[in-house]
Amino acid sequence: GASGALAGRRVVVSAGGTREALDPVRFLGNRSSGKQGIALAQAAAQAGAEVELVAANVDSGLLAALPSSIAVTPVESTLDLQSAMQAAQPNADVIVMAAAVADYRPAEVHGAKLKKAGDEGMSLELVQNPDILAGLVADRIPGQFIVGFAAETGDADHPAHDYAVAKFRRKGADLLVFNDVSGNRAFGHDVTEVIVLAADGTEVVEVGEFSGSKDDVAQKVVSVIADRLPP
Ligand code: C5P
Repeated sequence: GASGALAGRRVVVSAGGTREALDPVRFLGNRSSGKQGIALAQAAAQAGAEVELVAANVDSGLLAALPSSIAVTPVESTLDLQSAMQAAQPNADVIVMAAAVADYRPAEVHGAKLKKAGDEGMSLELVQNPDILAGLVADRIPGQFIVGFAAETGDADHPAHDYAVAKFRRKGADLLVFNDVSGNRAFGHDVTEVIVLAADGTEVVEVGEFSGSKDDVAQKVVSVIADRLPP
């Protein structure tokens, strides 16, 4: 079998950003490139894991560069992503939710391209999407290790770190990889800086602070995961 810190482990990573259709040609989306999630999938595979990458609108060139041992499940919307993650959950030792998920989607998906209505402007009704990570945590199978991501902005009075700690407590994951995206620093770039939070009893502790290429950071995060997995 494979050797490495994650040998024999099954890891599911979501990457990219969801798109919520408005009509056949338009969607609401976000700026996530999927690079960090792809780097994590690759680092997990390098550490010996069997990896599934659930890729939300990731550039096909990025996917083509992956080793064929990584199974790729392409998805588009948040509801698609949720179905893929729910399908993968029963067979996963580790789940990493690195995808940027839309919190809302249009209440109605129009079957035909929306026409311009006039000079009045228009408003769009949105409905809330499910929190996929929270659902995975609620349905966690025994021993399963669940990792969330958080991109936060902060200011002098409210440091991004405080928001990340609060989010970690709220989400109930085993690990939270947090980056400060004040000024849109992380999205689409090759270098990043993250703080990794973990639960230590009722305390939230910082278990690492990593910066460098997304590949370097992914390797560090994977080694933190491997160290914290149940035997
Ligand atoms: O609440 P926020 O979107 O900042 O949380 C980020 C984490 O939650 C990420 O791991 C993201 O993949 C996940 N998430 C999710 N479903 C949502 C929103 C976020 O799984 N609807």
